[in-house]
Amino acid sequence: VSNAGGLGTLAGGYLSPEVLRAEIRRTRALTDKPFAVNLFVPTAVHDPNLSAALDALGPLRTELGLPPAPVITSWAEDFDAQLAVVEDEHVPIFSFTFGIPDAEALTRLHDAATITIGTATNVDEALALEDAGVDVVCAQGAEAGGHHGTWAGDPWRSLIGTVALVPMVCDAVHLPVIAAGGIMDGRGVAAALCLGAGAAQLGTAFMLTPEAGTAAPHRRAMRTARATDTALTSHVTGRLARGIHNRLMEELQHVEVPPYPVMNALTTDLRRTAAQRDDGELMSLWCGQGAPLARDGSAQEVVGALMANLVAVVQDLYASSADNEAGT
Ligand SMILES: Cc1cc2nc3c(=O)[nH]c(=O)nc-3n(C[C@H](O)[C@H](O)[C@H](O)COP(=O)(O)O)c2cc1C
Repeated sequence: VSNAGGLGTLAGGYLSPEVLRAEIRRTRALTDKPFAVNLFVPTAVHDPNLSAALDALGPLRTELGLPPAPVITSWAEDFDAQLAVVEDEHVPIFSFTFGIPDAEALTRLHDAATITIGTATNVDEALALEDAGVDVVCAQGAEAGGHHGTWAGDPWRSLIGTVALVPMVCDAVHLPVIAAGGIMDGRGVAAALCLGAGAAQLGTAFMLTPEAGTAAPHRRAMRTARATDTALTSHVTGRLARGIHNRLMEELQHVEVPPYPVMNALTTDLRRTAAQRDDGELMSLWCGQGAPLARDGSAQEVVGALMANLVAVVQDLYASSADNEAGT
């Protein structure tokens, strides 16, 4: 993506510090353009109750030939150690979601001239990011695929569509805003720019690229997805996320599950094994509402098509407004 003229982001949230360092170095070997590294700000969980979740997961694990309970050594990667790698490797741009890193960490990143991008799903979060001295706000609308970043307020009430959220965030903060959620092509990017965003962030649009590493059943589900096929669940990982509705969402719907990252850790090997067995019903099929608009092609082709389409859309808009002014 970076080589094609976009800002590629290395998803570091689930990588150990050692693997993260190796991936940053591999990215540097593949591009001399700027890129970002993204991490998950940790959420504290005290004494989670696992019993109902383990009871519900047991039969599903047996179906996949897994032992009844997962073996878990830690709920999540060590954020401080991951961040130390980001700092140590002088990553040019650091983006994060699920919260705000502490003030000391942000000061260190600023001193190292690292640009910081924080995720907001409502106006309060955007204001808090600005107060904390973050450089750029990514406004993530409800259409977005994968986890929703909400960390202040009720996630179900922070499901604000991108068209409503972006101008509200632009009006509230004095920072550059990136629009995310449901943006799939040049039309979407043009709309985001019209709403006041300085850039657009796309996830789902890249998921059919070979570079995305999307598992085969996930690709198949996306290729046949209709506009009504995605759903929101907070029961697969303990955090609100959007993906194609499947049996795993159904099975866990009424189970009392521990919060993220605990539930995420409890379901990781189940979901991974289902993906390896080509079973799209027991894995997570994260993607956004725009899934039916996702296209095949390399990441470079997706970025190229986006840019060409954006230019065409803006030219059409300009031509029709010039026609209107001329009274034609
Ligand atoms: C499969 C998938 C994985 C994602 N992983 C991350 C992540 O690791 N960190 C993050 O900040 N956002 C992540 N996101 C959310 C994106 O950053 C972005 O907000 C979202 O994709 C925008 O909406 P769209 O999917 O409609 O393009 C992910 C999205 C998807 C679909």
